[in-house]
Amino acid sequence: MKNFLLILIAVLSNYSGQLLAQTNTVIVNADQGTDNISEHIYGQFSEHLGRGIYEGIWVGPDSEIPNQEGYRTDVLNALKELQIPNIRWPGGCFADEYSWRDGIGPREDRPVRINTHWGGVAEDNSFGTHEFLRFAELIGAEPYISANVGSGSPAEMNKWIEYMTYDGESELANLRRENGRDEPWKIKFFGIGNESWGCGGTMTADFYANQYRLYQTYAKNYSDNDLFKIASGSNDLDYKWTETLMREAAGSMDAISLHYYSIPGEGWSDKGVSANFGEEMYYRGIKAGLLLDEFITRHKTVMDKYDPAKKVVLAVDEWGIWTNPLEGTNPGFLEQQNSIRDALIASSSLDIMNSHADRVKLANIAQTVNVLQAMVITDGPKMLLTPTYHVFNMYKVHHNATLIPVFNNIDRYETEWDEPVVSRFDLELDEPGIPVISSTVSKDKEGRIHFTVSNLHPNDTQEVTFEIRGMNVNKIVQGSAKLLTGNSVDAINTFNNPDQVQPAAYKDAKLNNGKLTLKIPKHSLVVIGLE
Ligand code: AHR
Repeated sequence: MKNFLLILIAVLSNYSGQLLAQTNTVIVNADQGTDNISEHIYGQFSEHLGRGIYEGIWVGPDSEIPNQEGYRTDVLNALKELQIPNIRWPGGCFADEYSWRDGIGPREDRPVRINTHWGGVAEDNSFGTHEFLRFAELIGAEPYISANVGSGSPAEMNKWIEYMTYDGESELANLRRENGRDEPWKIKFFGIGNESWGCGGTMTADFYANQYRLYQTYAKNYSDNDLFKIASGSNDLDYKWTETLMREAAGSMDAISLHYYSIPGEGWSDKGVSANFGEEMYYRGIKAGLLLDEFITRHKTVMDKYDPAKKVVLAVDEWGIWTNPLEGTNPGFLEQQNSIRDALIASSSLDIMNSHADRVKLANIAQTVNVLQAMVITDGPKMLLTPTYHVFNMYKVHHNATLIPVFNNIDRYETEWDEPVVSRFDLELDEPGIPVISSTVSKDKEGRIHFTVSNLHPNDTQEVTFEIRGMNVNKIVQGSAKLLTGNSVDAINTFNNPDQVQPAAYKDAKLNNGKLTLKIPKHSLVVIGLE
């Protein structure tokens, strides 16, 4: 009897131990996906801001920094590798003061203007329409042009489109030819204004809705070009803006934008630092990033009311972490470090946007080089890849794959630091804390399924089991399993130590009877494929 009891206790404790170890479970309905994860969720944003374009991308053909036609070779190569689907330009706030005619013709004749938004520095217009569109071609991205509505005119915008896209005989098409480009460009993504409620004109929603209708009338399709028109949307939780725009103008737009920046600090006046910040600011940054789900969900609800057929896309065309500028840099240049925390903000934000693939089909992280949550950082001739760069590289598996519906049973990690994050917004939290695991599961054209799985916990390894239903999986795709981690919550890459945070082979995956179990170190991301 005694032996029997001992065995029973051993079995039960073992069983309860298993239950505890397996609280993170995800049911994967591999045969039930319907929504395509548009590759355009993985877009970038490059504004005339600080060292984003000048120095970061464009050094000019006479520079000593190795370049191809004036574009830094190191940056070009790094960006090509990411298979960037689209890139937004020239702003941002800059776009609503930009006059496209300043940026064409011989560079030495172009006027010098003041970049009033970003540091008041001289803008010599040496990077203009031709330079941007060639850059997009070189990295293989679709251009996303943001037109000036705030201080421009419908005529000016209309002429810019003609200049870029008309293949017949006209004064402007011929001017384009004189300036070195025979063939018209194809321009698909076309933004009509940027943050028109703020730096793009301080308009009311009703006023902008009328402006949108007016401008879009003159956003013409020349030759066989076919514009995808994006209305300037709201910031985080301004649902009334979306409501007004959808009510007044949904019939003439392809997308409405949403901007959301994750701020770990107290708010816009003190956003927190980007290096050496420790656990509290790690948590607050991650928590702030996860609020994107709330904002997308509620903007979608408004859109569903006016557009149940989901013809209008929600374009999250500015997102990412925004911290205080690095000490010693021009505060108008928005330069910040990029840590493993920021990589996990990127991975969890991409998971959120993927999970809303029915409506979110375009997004642009801010901003590609040297500004905000950048992919690469440069210093003179040196360049480093940021932790966020590696996330975008690891997430390529989801480009144009089918989103696999999942059912999550994930533990939560709770702290006392929710309040400072949500107090910026008028938000009631459904649940305190953060889920310890964030993931996306997708199926590619070859029928393989890929998992990107982040352990957001700052201190603990997590085990998570994916139970795959509706598909037989036999093995891990060779070479697909990679881990991105850092030795602390604020690990960064520096010019002295550029590879501290970089992907490495991952070996802690077990596949058994259709169950994939991953053991993931604290604050890390794993990508893995099954076939
Ligand atoms: O990305 C920096 C700025 O943030 C953009 O210019 C503006 O649109 C937003 O406020």
